[in-house]
Amino acid sequence: MTILEKILKKKKFSKQDIIYLLSLFRKDEQDILLSYSRSIKESTVGKKVYFRGLIEYSNICVKNCYYCGIRLGNKLQERYTMPDEEVLECAKFAYEQNYGSIVIQSGERSNIRFVKKIEHLLKEMKKLSDNKLGITLSLGEQSAETYRRWFEAGAHRYLLRIETSGRELYSKYHPSNELHSYDNRVEALALIKSIGYQLGTGVMIGLPGQSIENLSNDLLFIKQLDADMVGMGPYIENEHTPMYKDKGILISKKERFDLSLRMIAVLRLMMPDINIAAATAMQTLDPVGREKAINAGANIIMPNLTPVKYRESYQLYDGKPCMDEDASKCTGCLIGRIKSTGSDIGLGEWGDSKHFIKRLKTGK
Ligand code: 5AD
Ligand code: SF4
Ligand code: FES
Repeated sequence: MTILEKILKKKKFSKQDIIYLLSLFRKDEQDILLSYSRSIKESTVGKKVYFRGLIEYSNICVKNCYYCGIRLGNKLQERYTMPDEEVLECAKFAYEQNYGSIVIQSGERSNIRFVKKIEHLLKEMKKLSDNKLGITLSLGEQSAETYRRWFEAGAHRYLLRIETSGRELYSKYHPSNELHSYDNRVEALALIKSIGYQLGTGVMIGLPGQSIENLSNDLLFIKQLDADMVGMGPYIENEHTPMYKDKGILISKKERFDLSLRMIAVLRLMMPDINIAAATAMQTLDPVGREKAINAGANIIMPNLTPVKYRESYQLYDGKPCMDEDASKCTGCLIGRIKSTGSDIGLGEWGDSKHFIKRLKTGK
């Protein structure tokens, strides 16, 4: 038996095992890992891929993460917030297309007007869908009261990527101030979970100075956190950010892509019953990147519902796909993409994380 086969047979991976799997560089070995992960996905959460319609609500952000194109410090960036009618139209489209769920994402803001606005929109979306549309929020760090208000208004999942689980690396990619505190972010994750949300997190892969050991710690962090959903994808440089200057020390795009596939596959083996997204950034590095992510263990895809006129203004990284394709085009395209992987499409269902359902039953 090869070392790879021996590791794959284990019930629980040690850190050394994870490092070994993430370091596989021979194509035949990587293929064994990816197809094993896909088979574990199918025998655990099934063959369905679920849609989460993405609404990029606003690019106004009070933060200054060094890697992100819509950071406050990027004064070249025009700012927008979608009017209520447009947001509700997107939600209606998702409902009518039978998506099951949507995700509202925006830059971070926590003033009371914003909090109330989101609360209002949540209630309206629930109303227009007869309470049927599942709603995920991805609106950054908020107070316990805000998380609770939004939960009560109808949101039931919350995504907050830890970005990188290493304290030192975190402080390399963020300014060192209270607004970008590593401890606050870790606390926020616990808080979100304690309120009753399905908890989503994730990391960027291939950041400057990030090692395979760092990434194996990220996977162990996600496992320890007991997340229900994970979205992780390659770091892609944006020329209007401070981190662009490190572009010379990055691993190649091909390596970043393959490493991202191995991260998805290893995570699926470590946490077989969670939901894992095929991140849009995968498609920036490979024309069939999202399909490959599905084949490696992902089971969630997020068609972009944001009106085309705003898309240019929500470029967290360079080369984001689907800049000119509207919601119906992307939907049609993604249905084709999912089918090409031999997966089924979970239309009209929330597609909750099985992990969460188990967690509810056991009261953990
Ligand atoms: N490359 C890849 N992902 C990025 N994000 C922000 N900037 C980049 C980038 N340059 C991701 C972060 C954030 C999510 C909304 O987008 O992980 O949590
Ligand atoms: Fe704001 Fe999020 Fe970008 Fe950071 S990653 S600058 S919090 S939008
Ligand atoms: Fe948007 Fe293909 S996913 S056009």
